[in-house]
Amino acid sequence: MKPIHSDSEILSIQESCEIAATVLHGLVDATVEGINTYDLDQIGKNMIEEFGAESACYNYRHGSNIFPAYTCISVNNEIVHGIGRIDRVIGSGDIVSLDVCVNYNGFIGDNAKTIAVGTVEPSIETLLEDTQEALFLGIQSARAGNNVGDISFAIESFLKPKKYGIVREFVGHGVGRSMHELPQIPNFGNAGTGPVLYPSMALAIEPMVNLGSPKIRFLEDGWTAVTADGKPSAHFEHTILVTEGDPKILTKVKN
Ligand code: MF3
Ligand code: CO
Repeated sequence: MKPIHSDSEILSIQESCEIAATVLHGLVDATVEGINTYDLDQIGKNMIEEFGAESACYNYRHGSNIFPAYTCISVNNEIVHGIGRIDRVIGSGDIVSLDVCVNYNGFIGDNAKTIAVGTVEPSIETLLEDTQEALFLGIQSARAGNNVGDISFAIESFLKPKKYGIVREFVGHGVGRSMHELPQIPNFGNAGTGPVLYPSMALAIEPMVNLGSPKIRFLEDGWTAVTADGKPSAHFEHTILVTEGDPKILTKVKN
């Protein structure tokens, strides 16, 4: 199966991605000391609705679990899929992963970034920079004729020498009418392996990187993935388009 898109589908995905990027940008601005993550999620919900879009996370089902929030907000040792809570107040030294996935006119846009609030330890600053760099190296490998494994390898080979724990349980994914389409894009793997990339494929690439061990566990809410050793974790994500030439980042704020 080739998850390729028509020109009009690509335009729709692009619109959805621009909304997702604008909402993410707004959420970054709203993430200040003293705010709780429930209020942040409500700000995200309102922004998504102002664009006439819908959260693709709200009511998302995984088995019998239904995701109850509008965005994913994951603090410190929380890796991904954190649920906003009124008693989770952001303080100086926290890192916050903000993940916004929207559906607009039937198409998905998905992006995330992790930000530092106030002053964080240098090793955590570096974790954020390195995870973002890994994402950009992965994006640069998303070229027609390459394989998915080239993206995976670019990410892993940059991070591995730095002794991070690369999360293996969650992967990047194709994007279209559904949030998680084929192909799956692991953040580890061998160059030249896996599905071939074609122009018009829309891909969400999203490294999740732990400062310590790669091992994860889930909180009692059934969604929030946290590091098993309690150390911090970073997550950056863009939806990109594979083209005949350079990959195009779709989750950009429209200017
Ligand atoms: N960007 C996240 C992902 O690709 C969005 C998840 S929404 C949730 O997994 F509902 F699954 F939490
Ligand atoms: Co995603």
